[in-house]
Amino acid sequence: AQSTSEVARMKNLNVIEMGQYQVEPWYFSPYPLEYAHTPILYICEFCLCFYANKTQYTRHRVKCTLQHPPGNEIYRKDDISFFEIDGRRQKTYCRNLCLLSKCFLDHKTLYYDVDPFLFYIMTRRDERGCHIIGYFSKEKESSDNFNLACILTLPQYQRMGYGRVLMQFSYELSKAEGKVGSPEKPLSDLGLLSYRTYWSEVLVDMLVGFDGEISIDELSHMTSFTIQDIMHALFSLDAIRYYHGQHCIVLSERVMEAYERFKKKNHRKIDSSCLKWVPKN
Ligand code: ACO
Ligand code: ZN
Repeated sequence: AQSTSEVARMKNLNVIEMGQYQVEPWYFSPYPLEYAHTPILYICEFCLCFYANKTQYTRHRVKCTLQHPPGNEIYRKDDISFFEIDGRRQKTYCRNLCLLSKCFLDHKTLYYDVDPFLFYIMTRRDERGCHIIGYFSKEKESSDNFNLACILTLPQYQRMGYGRVLMQFSYELSKAEGKVGSPEKPLSDLGLLSYRTYWSEVLVDMLVGFDGEISIDELSHMTSFTIQDIMHALFSLDAIRYYHGQHCIVLSERVMEAYERFKKKNHRKIDSSCLKWVPKN
């Protein structure tokens, strides 16, 4: 027999439809009961409001005038934009975003109190508007120097390099603040995999062709990564060696091959000159 709490936390949604995509949620998300267990939950991809049936959803789409997330566009390059949204000012949108992202996050209790957070929404533009691809949230004040609370690429866009763009953006904000930062712990399995890949790629890219001495402090200063995260990445690459009484960074052939493969993919990157943002304090 299942306890009530187990039943309450069981996956409660079958399929969600957003724009032209249908996806299956991975985990429980606390949508109101009358919306759960319907065959399809329809979500407006612009305001993130949700509907249990197509007629109501279609009626909403006729009335809904939003063509981008309800915040300031702080970055635009080619078809990619970032919008900054204050949880205190756009409570409904941010709560809807948390409900949606809970479908794909299991390892932490999401905060339904959205006031203390800023939300950075990444979109891709076409003739109909700016479509959400993913987002990350960030505490307005983090006592632990976390520069990111939650990160999500919507499943229909995963494994296309967008997670890297979100992570890079979070570090561009830290650079603008003149701080180092790290994602909030614990990380999910996918979060850890993606961060480790991202940190390693950035560090290897910096170290390739570099001949001479560089300290971990300098690397931290250049990347806004914490020393701990840099060490984590370098150990995962097995790049720290001890020679003639001192520590060296050595990039093995295996690491260089992975780096060449990464370069060939020519992933999207943030162009920091397109960021129009100054820290609030
Ligand atoms: N299997 C193996 N490696 C993976 C996988 C996977 N499923 N997903 C990502 N990676 C690694 C790969 O090395 C990948 O590079 P590659 O595709 O060239 O091999 C790299 O991470 C980055 O991939 P991206 O395409 O840039 O990342 P993506 O857009 O898929 O987003 C993210 C990554 C945000 C973690 C996504 O998987 C996601 O939204 N997951 C669900 C929510 C989640 O777990 N978020 C993190 C929680 S922790 C926190 O919020 C602080
Ligand atoms: Zn809408």
